[in-house]
Amino acid sequence: MYKLVKPLLFSMDPETAHHTVSGGLRSFCKLIGGKRLLRAAYGYEHPSLERKVFGLTFRNPIGLAAGFDKNAEYVEEMAALGFGFIEIGTVTPRPQPGNERPRLFRLVDDQALINRMGFNNQGVDVAATRLSQLKDRRNLIIGGNIGKNKLTPNEEAVSDYIKCFDALFDVVDYFVVNVSSPNTPGLRALQEKQPLMHLLDTLQQRNRKGDVSRPILLKIAPDLTDAQLDDIIDIVRETGIAGVIATNTTIDREGLRSGEHLRSEGGGLSGRPLAKRATEVIRYLASKSGNAFPIIGVGGIHTPDDAVEKLAAGATLVQLYTGFIYQGPALVKRICKKLAIG
Ligand code: FNR
Repeated sequence: MYKLVKPLLFSMDPETAHHTVSGGLRSFCKLIGGKRLLRAAYGYEHPSLERKVFGLTFRNPIGLAAGFDKNAEYVEEMAALGFGFIEIGTVTPRPQPGNERPRLFRLVDDQALINRMGFNNQGVDVAATRLSQLKDRRNLIIGGNIGKNKLTPNEEAVSDYIKCFDALFDVVDYFVVNVSSPNTPGLRALQEKQPLMHLLDTLQQRNRKGDVSRPILLKIAPDLTDAQLDDIIDIVRETGIAGVIATNTTIDREGLRSGEHLRSEGGGLSGRPLAKRATEVIRYLASKSGNAFPIIGVGGIHTPDDAVEKLAAGATLVQLYTGFIYQGPALVKRICKKLAIG
């Protein structure tokens, strides 16, 4: 089915295609029996797929990575396509338009995307309201990926993350602190040890205040050095956060086949060319820390074997985004089948 519509979608501007697909999916799900039909076509249930990680039960270990559903508009629709968990965001305290279009590019020869969206989103309160109104959360895990507004200076970044944390606390199952997007100027400086410790410590203090706490994960860039990854391991240990998501998009352009006009677009690269480095980061963190914390592996998963590779490298769960664009929704079911059958 996706093979039939893909040429049409790929003939459109990538961002327009994204809105066409997600809007179409939503309309379809509004039809009587629409969601059930999708679940029947794309869902795959098997008890062996269940994972218990940081106190949550995932019906399967395949998640939708952040960035696809920035405003929590398509959670139920994406769940009907078989994902075990959906990560919304990145959201920021105030709505912001993001960078000017075009800001999303297909590198078809590399099965990759470059994006410099710049955290375009409707603001955390809109996402929180939408999530509070969800009718069907049946064993679906939702993550809230949080960031800071472009105009907030790094010295005040902590207050942006706290605002998002507070606004989403009652409506998400876990949090992701995103300090690794290459598209918000200066954001990745927050990955340095001192500011990161301060940010995560502050969030953890807040998290431990009430009766209920939420797992907080840190999403990191694939462009960190080994020394910086060692710092990440220390930071996870010292702050007691629940785990790490590895990785976000890369600023590296090594080994791409696509022409210079595409390669030289600014932003973060995702998809196939990212797979090897993301797996290396997962393997490094898992082995150097002695599997001390769960890792969600993401970056270039386009086949069931890619997912198996991430899990073998030390990931407990995986996520994907670009593979979904290139392979279509059936990819999730194919991965689930492979994992269930072994
Ligand atoms: C992303 N990604 C992303 N990550 C994040 O933490 N917050 C975000 O807002 C976004 N936005 C975003 C937009 C677009 C268009 C893309 C392609 C990606 C990164 C994403 O979650 C993931 O980490 C990387 O894309 C690597 O995985 P894939 O795409 O290779 O499976």
